[in-house]
Amino acid sequence: MAFSFFKKTEKPKKEETHSGPKYYDLRVKNIIQETKDAISIVFEHPASGKINYKPGQFLTLITSVNGKEVRRAYSLCSSPFVDHDLAVTVKRVENGLMSNWLPDHLKTGATIKVMEPMGQFTTEYNTNNKRHIILFAGGSGITPMMSIIKSILSQEPNSICSLIYCNRDIDSIIFKNDLEKIEISDEGRLHVIHVLDNAPMNWQGYSGLLNHDMLTKLFERIPDWGIANTTYLMCGPEGMMKNVETLLGQRNIPKEKIFKESFVQGTIDKDEKKEIATSEELKPREVTIRYDGQEYKVMVPPHKAILETALDQGIDLPYSCQSGLCTACRGKALSGKVKLDEEEGLSQSERAEGYVLTCVGHPLTDDVVIEIG
Ligand SMILES: Cc1cc2nc3c(=O)[nH]c(=O)nc-3n(C[C@H](O)[C@H](O)[C@H](O)COP(=O)(O)OP(=O)(O)OC[C@H]3O[C@@H](n4cnc5c(N)ncnc54)[C@H](O)[C@@H]3O)c2cc1C
Ligand code: FES
Repeated sequence: MAFSFFKKTEKPKKEETHSGPKYYDLRVKNIIQETKDAISIVFEHPASGKINYKPGQFLTLITSVNGKEVRRAYSLCSSPFVDHDLAVTVKRVENGLMSNWLPDHLKTGATIKVMEPMGQFTTEYNTNNKRHIILFAGGSGITPMMSIIKSILSQEPNSICSLIYCNRDIDSIIFKNDLEKIEISDEGRLHVIHVLDNAPMNWQGYSGLLNHDMLTKLFERIPDWGIANTTYLMCGPEGMMKNVETLLGQRNIPKEKIFKESFVQGTIDKDEKKEIATSEELKPREVTIRYDGQEYKVMVPPHKAILETALDQGIDLPYSCQSGLCTACRGKALSGKVKLDEEEGLSQSERAEGYVLTCVGHPLTDDVVIEIG
């Protein structure tokens, strides 16, 4: 379908016969300092062959920090249609483990373990498509957008993109020059509007909170292709995405036209979730996990998720964000009831089919059997 992004249930098919994800040791070809606190890490494809991925997907980087394995998801900013190598961009998070370890310790020529690309913040590309993609990005949320923009412009000659990119200040704009170059090379097909929290004196663009009035002004500056031909994507801080969702709702943009990628577990609705958690009865319960031809039984205590309990027992299950966002740990509950702390990663139809996220899942009954892969 020309205008729809993948529904969450349409998982890309895997070619391998075992049910687990593939892991690779990738060589770091280059490290680019994008801004004061963001680097791009460029990887060579492995000698065994190119890694296939879709624009908008992420890699899981796996490394040891202070003697403990750490995994984090990083969206690919490279495009499989345009770029020879794979690349991710990492922005430092205050006191963050991996986002500071990578720029401080990773060097060109080193290898790092990664889990194959995953994620459903993506779409099918077709030369016959004629669509306007409006992208809202905030800070590091530009990474999947960069891959999608490059891919749309190269694969769909009749489509256009408009990017509204929010940043703290001018020095925190990642890919500023690259975006300017694309605006020139693909004249009229990419419109970039920067919005800054703190604008310098001579700033010609927009600054301040993205509110109804500002969005109205911004939309006057980008082409109007009508609701049917326009898709809205967003990736950025939770507050920004909530705000944009509300503003698009006020403009009567249907929810089916809006797609978002979250990097961080939400905090805004946390109190509501806590209430749900305490109102339900969590007890130590045994869970059966079927994965990669093996069956495991784990006793899950109330304060731990199913994934964490399994990992503590040395069961090597797939995972990435451990926050219920990326679906790398997704499994299907064949029986029993599972409570999820965070449901952001799963679509309604996935939940109805019994899919669960083991990283945020707790057994509510004694007969939980989960099949992964
Ligand atoms: C699907 C997906 C794709 C992602 N893609 C990217 C990407 O392309 N580039 C990128 O830089 N990051 C990306 N992330 C975020 C990344 O995986 C890490 O969460 C981030 O780098 C922080 O990890 P850390 O180990 O440094 O921080 P942690 O040690 O895990 O966290 C430290 C503290 O910072 C908070 N925190 C974590 N992440 C953020 C954040 N982004 N902003 C503000 N506070 C935060 C945590 O809640 C915690 O309190 C992505 C996440 C997901 C789920
Ligand atoms: S590991 Fe990312 S959703 Fe569970």
